[in-house]
Amino acid sequence: MTSPSNRHALLADKLVHPQFPRAGSYDLEWQFQNAMGPNPLWLAESLSELLELTPGMRVLDLGCGRAVTSIFLSREFGVQVVAADLWVQPHENWTRVAEAGLDAQVMPLHAEAHDLKFAHGYFDAIVSLDAYHYFGTDDLYLGYLVQFLRPGGQLGICVPARTDAAEGTVPLHMDDAWDWDYHSFHGPRWWRRHWEKTGKVRMEHADLLPDGWRHWLRWEQLTALEGSAEWRKESAAWAEKLEEDAGQSLGFARVVARTPGG
Ligand SMILES: C[S@@+](CC[C@H](N)C(=O)[O-])C[C@H]1O[C@@H](n2cnc3c(N)ncnc32)[C@H](O)[C@@H]1O
Repeated sequence: MTSPSNRHALLADKLVHPQFPRAGSYDLEWQFQNAMGPNPLWLAESLSELLELTPGMRVLDLGCGRAVTSIFLSREFGVQVVAADLWVQPHENWTRVAEAGLDAQVMPLHAEAHDLKFAHGYFDAIVSLDAYHYFGTDDLYLGYLVQFLRPGGQLGICVPARTDAAEGTVPLHMDDAWDWDYHSFHGPRWWRRHWEKTGKVRMEHADLLPDGWRHWLRWEQLTALEGSAEWRKESAAWAEKLEEDAGQSLGFARVVARTPGG
């Protein structure tokens, strides 16, 4: 472990980046402690650039984890967020939400993505950061989820991805380090086709987050060095994979669509 002042400098150096000006203003230790994978604020900020979010909108943050993205979206855009997650309990998220002073704007909820209890047409937008690939690759899922959007509502995700050229392959240099579940990482072209073919949405955007792999690498290197014991080994392994891959096949996909009408 580094000394507290060196640690702060290291966090600032790794966490503040001109591509994410909004995220850079959030407490560095808070970001670090509450992440469950790649930096959620970076993913949320880069997705938010592609969405129209206005004060008072009702937003579902599906698979919100520790609700840091729900807090970010509510604070930055004045939206009302339902922070829904399976693994993290709502009372844990409630503490974080209340500490952020957003108890009137963010409602934590325990939810399973296939068994949502909302009224059809309730949300103006549904977002999912580093979570949709756990449940959204099923051909039938999009049609189920968009029932909860109003006509003209937005669906936006940012997820770990393969480049389009690498779709469906195992990176040669990762033969031994490739888990079967990484096959849920898909490229922008795959996601576009996956959603478009349903006829349930109008596609607005599908790309790889610019320099996504570099940001991911920077984050894993930091977590390998300074993260909790639980994450260090895994992060070191990811940092190694990402460095070797150098953006040839790994990154993040940003995908945005709208329901018809509205
Ligand atoms: C890697 S974590 C990311 C959490 C958060 N979005 C972030 O970026 O920090 C993936 C999240 O997806 C959620 N998740 C996975 N499967 C789910 C499901 N079937 N229904 C609801 N949430 C799910 C988990 O509970 C977990 O918190």
